[in-house]
Amino acid sequence: MIDTIQELKRKKDAVILAHNYQLPEIQDIADFVGDSLELALRANAVTERMIVFCGVLFMAETAKILNPDKKVILPVKEAGCPLADQLTPDMLRQAKHEHPRAGVVVYVNSTAECKAVADIVCTSANAVEVVRSLDAEEVIFGPDANLAAFVQKSVPEKTIIPVPATGHCYVHTAFTLHDVEEARIRGGRIICHPECTREVQEHADVIASTGGMVRVAEESGLWHVFTEKEMGYRLKTLHPDRTFLTKEGAICHDMKLTTLATLRRALETEEHEITLPAHIMQEARTAIERMIALHR
Ligand code: 13P
Ligand code: SF4
Repeated sequence: MIDTIQELKRKKDAVILAHNYQLPEIQDIADFVGDSLELALRANAVTERMIVFCGVLFMAETAKILNPDKKVILPVKEAGCPLADQLTPDMLRQAKHEHPRAGVVVYVNSTAECKAVADIVCTSANAVEVVRSLDAEEVIFGPDANLAAFVQKSVPEKTIIPVPATGHCYVHTAFTLHDVEEARIRGGRIICHPECTREVQEHADVIASTGGMVRVAEESGLWHVFTEKEMGYRLKTLHPDRTFLTKEGAICHDMKLTTLATLRRALETEEHEITLPAHIMQEARTAIERMIALHR
């Protein structure tokens, strides 16, 4: 299976991009593995004819928006993000109507239609920097309310308006103070994703995106990793001499839909191709490129 995938990849002039939450065998075969920001930046520099995105819909859409002339494939079309689905363009328009002077930041975990309404996009790696870059005192921020709270704490001089007020990821909000207590008994340090609840964030030693976790884990010791379980595999691959403890049930089911079999099929059939209306692509691209410009 692995040989067939490698051969198809060469024959079809494809690059395989994978998120840190993908199954170990997908991480191993990918050309590049990273967090949402790293993947967007990598997608911005693709030279191959085709991108096969092992992740979820919003990530593949972002790659397509940055590469309108390339074929972008999501191996399983149902691979979505329940957090992204909690925000609609109408909710953003309503918030803009209520707060006319506010800037609009949308988390990359959102639909292309929402990105098209936003001033700028952010990821969990750069949300604070993106919000600081805005020339507005009020900032509409969606859809993750826990990431919004993290930003609010880091940027107290601005008022962050979370839209919706309860937007959340079911994988990250399943971490509780009980998990914190258990980790404290075992010793070591807790690193949590900013999509975890505010109370868990308060008790963590470090709060970071999955890419940030890769960098922080360069420090030796035992790490309790409060994010999707497969992040443990990613960290162990990069830092084999460290110990990373993850939570058994912390599974993003959409991320697990991509398997070696569905990846091979995607390379063979070139399905499922991401297509978006031209005006959405154009408007969303402006918001994504504003974010990318902060990293130049
Ligand atoms: P990262 O950008 O930190 O990888 O997060 C993406 C995500 O979906 C978190 O649930
Ligand atoms: Fe979406 Fe949560 Fe899965 Fe990340 S872990 S892709 S936020 S459902």
